[in-house]
Amino acid sequence: MNRIFILLALTLAGSGRTTAQTTARPAPQSAAAHEMTINTSKRTASVQPTMYGIFFEDINYAADGGLYAELVKNRSFEFPDRYMGWNIFGKVEVRDDGPFERNPHYVRLGASGHNYKYTGLENEGYFGIGYAADAEYRFTVWARVPEGGEATLAVMLCDPSTQDERQQFAETRLKIDSPEWKQYEAVLKSDREVSHGTLRLMLRGTTPVDVEHVSLFPVDTWRGHRNGMRKDLAQALADLHPGVFRFPGGCIVEGTDLATRYQWKNSVGPVENRPLNENRWHYTFTHRFFPDYFQSYGLGFYEYFLLAEEIGAEPLPVLSVGLACQFQNKTGHASMDELQPYIDDVLDLIEFANGDPAQNKWAALRAEMGHPEPFGLKFVAIGNEQWGEIYPEHLRPFIEQVRAKYPQIKLIGSSGPESEGEKFDYLWPEMRKLGADLVDEHFYRPEAWFLSQGNRYDNYPRKGTKVFAGEYACHGRGKKWNHFETALYEAAFMTGLERNADVVEMATYAPLFAHIDGWQWRPDLIWFDNLRSFRSCSYYVQQLFACNRGTHVLPLTMDGRVVSGQAGQDGLFASSVIDDERNELIVKVVNTSREAQPLTLRFDGKALRKGNTYKITPTVFTVDDPDGENTLDNPERYVPVTGAPQLLTGDRSGFAFETTLAPMSVNLYRIAL
Ligand code: AHR
Repeated sequence: MNRIFILLALTLAGSGRTTAQTTARPAPQSAAAHEMTINTSKRTASVQPTMYGIFFEDINYAADGGLYAELVKNRSFEFPDRYMGWNIFGKVEVRDDGPFERNPHYVRLGASGHNYKYTGLENEGYFGIGYAADAEYRFTVWARVPEGGEATLAVMLCDPSTQDERQQFAETRLKIDSPEWKQYEAVLKSDREVSHGTLRLMLRGTTPVDVEHVSLFPVDTWRGHRNGMRKDLAQALADLHPGVFRFPGGCIVEGTDLATRYQWKNSVGPVENRPLNENRWHYTFTHRFFPDYFQSYGLGFYEYFLLAEEIGAEPLPVLSVGLACQFQNKTGHASMDELQPYIDDVLDLIEFANGDPAQNKWAALRAEMGHPEPFGLKFVAIGNEQWGEIYPEHLRPFIEQVRAKYPQIKLIGSSGPESEGEKFDYLWPEMRKLGADLVDEHFYRPEAWFLSQGNRYDNYPRKGTKVFAGEYACHGRGKKWNHFETALYEAAFMTGLERNADVVEMATYAPLFAHIDGWQWRPDLIWFDNLRSFRSCSYYVQQLFACNRGTHVLPLTMDGRVVSGQAGQDGLFASSVIDDERNELIVKVVNTSREAQPLTLRFDGKALRKGNTYKITPTVFTVDDPDGENTLDNPERYVPVTGAPQLLTGDRSGFAFETTLAPMSVNLYRIAL
């Protein structure tokens, strides 16, 4: 972080009556002081607890190779190239009559017939395996000795790049002693940090052994779960305090064809028997081509629901409407008389999440997996980026059947892949006619679009179907990375969402995660490699809004108008809320201009009582370089900084706070009531 600049900005933000002359970028002589008035007596809308959330899709190796902490790639030998991810030595043979019906392949390791010709396997992980120093790793394998007797497997954590005499830095031996399939386990400790390690399995002796579902997890996962999540990445989600958690996509919900759509029923039950699915992000972009990208479903719907519960977010699953990705597939859709199994997927999911285990087999499976209590599912989205007449036609029977059986579930439809235009204009009235509770809007748009959309929701109908801004991010023109400038414009835009909280009930940035060596799409909220992660500037904007959501919107005006970057407003955007739970007033002001701007915040109304003194605490997020970004080597270069509380005193005309907004800054003011 450029601390000098931030300190300067905070000094300006908190000093009161300071002038622009002391800023890093001097304001023009003409910079007139703006005054914003907050009416603390009038509440114009409730802010839903779901307002700011997260959207997770397995893109950019977000699940396998990312949040899902499994370190072994192709652990069940089910990739179309059975040895993809593996180096094999000696006598190794793939067989297909394994113990797991939906993952039938496994390998047989046989003696090579030569003392110094070893038989074994080496897994390369996802862009290598990251081993942390002093960390423990749990190795498990399903194995048997097909011809009886006793076999020995050496399990090694390796660093192929080392100059040490031995590449293995941790080793253990497992005795495989049963002709029946059994799971064997060992914990190995790493005494060093290795960013691109491997896992080796070597047959010792001459007794052949069959191995299946070879797995390695850090012992220290998020909340210590087996089959768990990478701790730093799950923590980054928890630290966002998301109100809603949309999953599992995105385009992967639709599939390139219906056979490869995300099927939640394949993603629950024992992990060994969850069938592999392709990941469309392995081939969608030829310039970012990852032929080893598949979905193991190890991170499946049970894990998604559990994670949502643990991070305090409402789960929001998205399910197929029987239409394959319309960008990629014009004809491969389910006909109307083929739709019932897709509708059943929705109905059964509601039972899986909320049902009584004694009454329903899907609810019983949830209980068997460890969660007898319901997950409390309230929302289901049907279809992702669908469009045209075929979409409402397909959606109708879903809505009819879910409404009939589960009237309390809120249903979310789509407005298509574009932020406006023909498809969008057609779908919104259709969604209203069908009675969708919310409509999902997506916008990956450039700087100018975000700056022009401060008023986007001001004239939306206030009644009926609400908005879910389900995927959005500012994509800089020619600057497609997570630099501060785009985060700033997202913040500006978000003040408009907040002002219109009676229309917009949820918003989720997209995409969420990206592996630094394996991304297909950027910008993204959180980046990681095998051992480290960092939070982008956009992440901190999301966090500022989510942690200061408030419970009700208060009117905030400048010269009698809302502050949304309109002509004459010098690039200012603002919103204000009151938080009844924390008993706070919160004001957010975004200065998108490159100049410092003097500002007075005036508080009218009853929330601040004359004669009392209050404290106002400023938080400023700004940078020395709008192109600047956080990185793995410098993960906290740019973070919001909270200053000391200042006294806010009132006089007969009410309470006022004078400050100077730093150029290109997101400013948050909290007043404890
Ligand atoms: O977020 C990446 C993709 O963008 C999503 O899968 C899709 O819904 C949108 O087109």
